[in-house]
Amino acid sequence: MNIEKSTPLRGEISVPGDKSISHRAVMFGSLAKGTTEITNFLQGADCLSTISCFRQMGIEIDNQPDRIVIWGKGLHGLNGPNDTLDVGNSGTTIRLMSGILAGQSFDCRVTGDASIQKRPMKRVITPLSMMNAAIDSINHNGCAPLKIQGRKLKAVHYNSPVASAQVKSCVLLAGMYADGVTSVTEPILSRNHSELMLNYFGASVASHGTTASILPDPLLEGRKVIVPGDISSAAYFIAAGLLVPGSEILIKNVGVNPTRDGLLKVCAAMGADITRLNENTVSGEPTADLLVRYSSLHGTTVGGEIIPTLIDELPIIAVMAAFADGTTVIKDASELKVKESNRIAVMTGNLSRMGVDVEATEDGMIIHGGKPVHGAEIDSHLDHRIAMSFAIAALSAEGTTKIKDADCVRISYPNFYEDLNQLKGL
Ligand code: S3P
Repeated sequence: MNIEKSTPLRGEISVPGDKSISHRAVMFGSLAKGTTEITNFLQGADCLSTISCFRQMGIEIDNQPDRIVIWGKGLHGLNGPNDTLDVGNSGTTIRLMSGILAGQSFDCRVTGDASIQKRPMKRVITPLSMMNAAIDSINHNGCAPLKIQGRKLKAVHYNSPVASAQVKSCVLLAGMYADGVTSVTEPILSRNHSELMLNYFGASVASHGTTASILPDPLLEGRKVIVPGDISSAAYFIAAGLLVPGSEILIKNVGVNPTRDGLLKVCAAMGADITRLNENTVSGEPTADLLVRYSSLHGTTVGGEIIPTLIDELPIIAVMAAFADGTTVIKDASELKVKESNRIAVMTGNLSRMGVDVEATEDGMIIHGGKPVHGAEIDSHLDHRIAMSFAIAALSAEGTTKIKDADCVRISYPNFYEDLNQLKGL
C-alpha cells in the first residue's frame, strides 16, 4: 500500500462496531438461554474467529448482513469441539474463552496464529489454576497451544499483577462455573465491558474501585445488543483530522466509556479541537459523535492510571507526537511489548525510518516532535494497529509511505482504506 501526503480530510464517517464489545456479545449470547441479536457487530477477522469457535462448540450463529443472531444454549449448553479451537490473531478470544472452557464438562485444545503462539498466556493460566482448572501450555512455554480439561471450579479472590481486561474477564467468566463468589482486583481499572454486559445479560457482577466480583451459576438470558462504534478505530481518523491542515471530520456514534476514552484526554492535553456531540447510552455503553478539527498540537506526558484506558491507541498517539511541537513521553506502558507485535520496538523502528527523533525506553518511548517527517518503507509486522497508524502518519509526511502487509487491517477494520479515501474525497 502506497500512501502520499494528503489534502484536507472532510466529511462524516461511522467507524465499525467496537471489537471488545462484539467479542463479548457473541460469547455471552452463546452462554445465554434464548436468542441474542447483535447489530453493528464488527465483521473483523478477530470477531469472526470468536463466532467460529462458538459454532465449533455447537452454537447456531447466523451472520446476516445487518445483524448477528445467536441461539444460545445456556451456561452448560456448549458441546466439546471435534477439533482444536482456532482463535486466529485474537488475544481477547483465547483469554476470555479460556475462562469459559475451564468450567466445562469436556476437554479441548485452543491455538491461534504465529503471533498468538508468542503472546503470554501465563497471565490466565495462573488464576485459572488457582481456581482448580486443568489448563496447560502444550509446549511448556507459557503460550498457546493450550490444553484445557473442563471441571468444576473453586471460587477465589485473585490479585492480578497486570491491569488487563482480558485477565479480569477470564477470571469473572470462570467464576460463573465456580462454587462461590469469585473476585479479581487489578492494579488500575481496565475496560469494564464484561462487567456491564454480563449484568445486561442477567448475571450479578459488582464493581468497587478496581475490584470486580461475580456470583456463580447466573441465569443469562438472550438480549438485543447494539454495539457502539470502536473508539480504537475512530482514533485513526481523530488523529488524521487533527494532523492534516484544513481537515474537519465528524465521527458518528463512537463508544466513549470512561475506561476507554483516555485518547480524548491526551488529545485535549496536546491542544486538540474535538467536540463531543449527541451524547447517549446504548446497551449500557456511553456514546457520542466526535467533531474533530485540524489543530496545532504540542507534546505531553502519557503515563500512570490513564494507560489502560488508551493502551491500544498508543501507536497512533506516538504518531501524533511525531508531528506535535516539543517532547512527548509515553511511560508505564510495558504491556505494549506483548501486543500483536512488540509495539515499542515496532513503533520506534518505523518512526525512525520516517526521520522522527524517537527513543525506545523500557516502558514506552520518548518522541521529540515537530521536525520534518518523510515517507519510508514501513513494516507492519502484521499488526493491524501499526498498519493503520502509519497510514495516518503518511498523510502528513513528505513523499510516499509504503506499508508492508497493509491488509492486516482486516483484523479490526476491514474497510479502513476505503473510509480513508472517502474522507480524502476519492
Ligand atoms: C481487550 C483488552 C486489552 C486490549 C485488547 C482488547 C479486551 O488487552 O489491548 O485489544 O477486549 O478485553 P489487555 O487486557 O491484555 O490489556
